[in-house]
Amino acid sequence: MAEPHGATRYGGGRPDTAVAGGTTTTTALLEVQGLSTSYGPVRALDGVSLTAEAGRITAVLGANGAGKTTLLRTISGLVRPTSGKVLLDGEEITRAPVEAMVHKGMAHVPEGRGVIAELTVDENLRVGSLFRGKVGREEFDRVYDLFPRIAERRDNPAHTLSGGERQMLVVGRALLARPRILLLDEPSLGLAPRIVAQIFGLVRQLVDSEGLSVLLVEQNARSALSVADTGVVLNLGRVVVTDDARALAADEDLRHAYLGF
Ligand SMILES: Nc1ncnc2c1ncn2[C@@H]1O[C@H](COP(=O)(O)OP(=O)(O)OP(=O)(O)O)[C@@H](O)[C@H]1O
Ligand SMILES: [Mg+2]
Repeated sequence: MAEPHGATRYGGGRPDTAVAGGTTTTTALLEVQGLSTSYGPVRALDGVSLTAEAGRITAVLGANGAGKTTLLRTISGLVRPTSGKVLLDGEEITRAPVEAMVHKGMAHVPEGRGVIAELTVDENLRVGSLFRGKVGREEFDRVYDLFPRIAERRDNPAHTLSGGERQMLVVGRALLARPRILLLDEPSLGLAPRIVAQIFGLVRQLVDSEGLSVLLVEQNARSALSVADTGVVLNLGRVVVTDDARALAADEDLRHAYLGF
């Protein structure tokens, strides 16, 4: 395991990682216990349990309609579960208001790259930061350093950005909140493999160097497993299997049955 890095901005590295007697133990930063969510008669999540470790990427994989988006929306408080719990750092946050979730260090990048088309890149970042209290100039500079393509286009209207650039903008906007855990919903959707690799590479870099924790929802299982530490496979609202990302990628039967590669 890599040593936690000194200067960290995202949740102070891996505070819950302890090395005792030669064995490494990690505890969950985010814990989901028996979560069920329904839309009227449609049960989208059915008793889902998973953990996202601090300083790790946890991928949630599954086909269309598996419940991935519902899971993220329930965790971040946009949808109320019918039963089950969500804990952050051991503290129950299941029915906390969305603002409280942001305050506690959760940032949700929803499906679909929502930018305000008429505003410039810089204005989009500023609008995003309004919900996050005071955001210093250095925070904006940091996002621009991470995403030079966005920096080059800071004065251009957001509708002129490519899909990949929009994705970088919404991830950058989420990072302005200095989250401890980033919930990413299908960041690869519709992007060229090269751009997907670039975005995932940046996410990995933030995790490794700054201790950010990520819950990554993806239908693109192959790419997600190549960057993730752990994978959770969802099918029809239930967890089919949870395992080390490499082990999942190596399981041919599972790949064919649920992961589409
Ligand atoms: N607002 C809604 N109202 C009613 N049913 C919904 C709603 N949102 C999702 N569903 C249903 O809940 C189930 C899970 O949907 P969800 O969007 O969570 O899946 P997903 O895994 O994110 O799929 P995708 O890969 O297509 O984004 C599906 O059967 C879907 O039709
Ligand atoms: Mg979805």
